[in-house]
Amino acid sequence: MSESVIQKQSNNEKYISVKEALKTQTQLTQSDSPLLDCHLLLGQALGKPRSWLLAHDDYILSTSESASYFSAFQQRKEGIPIAYILGEQEFWSLRFTVNQSTLIPRAETELLIEAILDRFPPDTKKDHSKGRVQVIDLGTGAGPIAISLASERKHFKIVATDRSFDTLCTAQRNSQQVSSNKVVFVQCDWLTAFEDGQFDLIVSNPPYVEADDKHLESLKHEPYNALVADEKGLGDFRKIISSAEQKLRKGGMIILEHGYDQQSAVEGILVEYGFSGIEKLKDLNGQDRVILAYGPDAK
Ligand SMILES: C[S@@+](CC[C@H](N)C(=O)[O-])C[C@H]1O[C@@H](n2cnc3c(N)ncnc32)[C@H](O)[C@@H]1O
Repeated sequence: MSESVIQKQSNNEKYISVKEALKTQTQLTQSDSPLLDCHLLLGQALGKPRSWLLAHDDYILSTSESASYFSAFQQRKEGIPIAYILGEQEFWSLRFTVNQSTLIPRAETELLIEAILDRFPPDTKKDHSKGRVQVIDLGTGAGPIAISLASERKHFKIVATDRSFDTLCTAQRNSQQVSSNKVVFVQCDWLTAFEDGQFDLIVSNPPYVEADDKHLESLKHEPYNALVADEKGLGDFRKIISSAEQKLRKGGMIILEHGYDQQSAVEGILVEYGFSGIEKLKDLNGQDRVILAYGPDAK
């Protein structure tokens, strides 16, 4: 479909069908999945699922549906991530509201959830003489880690932090919508707001991209402070790990997501601060992605 036809349609001078609207996919040259993007945007404009679009490709869009579709399509053409246009992203089969104050939750972060659930089965409550498992998610963003854990483990008592107030407001809304096991949200700088010896589990997917990383150009719509860390991307790992040793209870675990080429550097920081029992995990693409370890007091 030519540019001029789209222009006319967006000015409501011509009615188009679902089939014709989907042909605009050819203009999403920078997208890895242009047809899927168009399906999602059209589905949102029409308030219909993909299955309906497939079965009704001769449906003619109303003027307001057409205007809504082309407005969203234009944003996608300008490179805005589909999750920001739709206002939501799926993670751990849950729907999270996202906006430009939050990082878009990534599929690879589900590895953190799997690793934690494997090590803290549902019945561990009985093993914890002090009651519930105390968990903290540092840099929660839209809340995918904290809220997914809360939905899976009712005996987890979870605090989630972020430095950004706007981000925390979105995370809090997500918590209210998604899980009955409520998360407590705290605005602070990493672990500075907490007393020593409080947590059984510290989890974080901190910023870990280097300031001069060439991939940042393709991430320009997401918050810079959620992505970039100093010391070649390792600065926030050092800040978190150096204070984590005091904040963990005896036997407590820390688990961190990191960049594909940072595993040995993060391992070095964990060893430097006395952590042991280190385990290293790969994501579904075979990339080094997660590291976990036990606090200096662990037996
Ligand atoms: C890579 S994002 C991860 C977001 C979310 N946990 C996820 O996995 O989608 C890192 C988060 O850390 C937050 N952050 C950055 N510096 C921080 C600090 N000093 N203290 C607390 N949070 C911080 C950012 O605002 C951002 O939400």
